[in-house]
Amino acid sequence: MQLIDGKSLANKIQTDIATKVSKLKDEKNITPGLAVLLIGDDPASQAYVKMKAKACKEVGFYSIVHEMPTTITQDEIISTIEMMNANPRIDGILVQLPLPSHIDTDKIIEIIEPKKDVDGFHPYNVGRLVAGLDSFVACTPLGVMKMFEEYNIDLKGKDVCVVGASNIVGKPMASLLLNANATVTITHIHTKDLAFHTKKADIVIVGTGVPKLIKKDMIKEGAIVVDIGIIKLPDGTITGDVDFPAVSPLCSYITPVPGGVGPMTIAMLLSNTLKSAQKREI
Ligand code: GUN
Repeated sequence: MQLIDGKSLANKIQTDIATKVSKLKDEKNITPGLAVLLIGDDPASQAYVKMKAKACKEVGFYSIVHEMPTTITQDEIISTIEMMNANPRIDGILVQLPLPSHIDTDKIIEIIEPKKDVDGFHPYNVGRLVAGLDSFVACTPLGVMKMFEEYNIDLKGKDVCVVGASNIVGKPMASLLLNANATVTITHIHTKDLAFHTKKADIVIVGTGVPKLIKKDMIKEGAIVVDIGIIKLPDGTITGDVDFPAVSPLCSYITPVPGGVGPMTIAMLLSNTLKSAQKREI
């Protein structure tokens, strides 16, 4: 069993981005800029935004965090996004999800200028991804693809089971895998027999937020397991969607939690923002 070390790969990517940022500043006088909207007081969202802002600082980006109370109206959020769409110093706009229940998330995402949609959530970018065209791709699934590339894991013809069908993780993950010529099964909360599908797969990618959903008897010997879940249990310990101690001995490769996919998500956000800045029209 080999661990897929997302933390060290993310560090390597971050160092490379910092070098490219210096070059962009020297050669074109461009500093990549990211605007993050944090709405409400969800502690997990606050922690993620803090990590994103820290990473931006480390690579030399200009970054701003707009913090808004839960009571904010949809129109006020829309005005802020429109301001960021028009701001030439901002290359990327990210609205941290989930949003308070009175806000229409789909509507908010559609207001973001697709060229600044570094989260890859806008239907324009989702459509381009499905069509196999260049687009901004959601950071977590993009990070998983980078891990496969780094560890020379060939996807062509592999049976891959994606567990979880969210817009943020499962659906874009499945599109990327299909574009890489894998045979993809997407399972979700209504799937009749989850183990039937996971047990057949060469690669299982899990992003559900259900702690330790994937047990030993659901994985075939030699499989590759990617755990996208990160959950804080009531006792304070961090776990993923996979029962790691039981499942890992069976695997050829497995991602740990923490230190697996998590750091890659942030590295891909930086990478998408840099990509946007490199295309800035000045
Ligand atoms: N909430 C959970 N994951 C993400 C993500 O990748 N981007 C945003 N904006 N919100 C999230």
